[in-house]
Amino acid sequence: MTLKKLLLLGCVCLSLAACGGVDPNSPLGKRQAAFKEMLKVSEDLGGMLRGRIVYDEAGFIAGAAQLERLSHEPWQHFPQVRDDERSKANPEVWERHEQFQKMARDLEQATAALVQATTAPPLRRTELEPAMQAVEDSCEACHKAFRAY
Ligand code: HEC
Repeated sequence: MTLKKLLLLGCVCLSLAACGGVDPNSPLGKRQAAFKEMLKVSEDLGGMLRGRIVYDEAGFIAGAAQLERLSHEPWQHFPQVRDDERSKANPEVWERHEQFQKMARDLEQATAALVQATTAPPLRRTELEPAMQAVEDSCEACHKAFRAY
């Protein structure tokens, strides 16, 4: 192997290591990216309601719509069989697939209800808070059942 090839190989290894070695175009890479984006948006929404960041009605409405769109995204990137040993998905995702799908639908319904609570400004905290809590609860319920830490 020439020096040039060795150097090139070194670079490839380094750049893979830099992103944890997960190919962003693989199913694992795609579902991780979708989950991370969901986390960011839901943390912003929760943060606005809890006073961690400034509440902004237009921002909340846009964020809720974005979270609703994102809530449909990760599931298509779970292949038929367990794909990658770096996945943090519990094997039960595949063994109890129906229950997993049901919890995915629960999240989609919770985000749709959150959007529903944002359709008639001025928005009321008393409606936003339980709707956001239901979204967070459905993230947590599925993680408890199906995510390995
Ligand atoms: C139906 C089940 C389910 C629901 C609902 C769910 N998750 Fe997850 N989540 C998973 C599974 C399974 C993994 C592990 C994926 C893997 O590594 O293959 C995961 C992983 C993640 C990760 C880690 C991604 C990474 O980079 O490794 C984040 C962040 C996350 N979820 C955020 C959320 C948020 C925020 C919500 C709610 C808005 C949510 N999830 C709802 C099942 C779910």
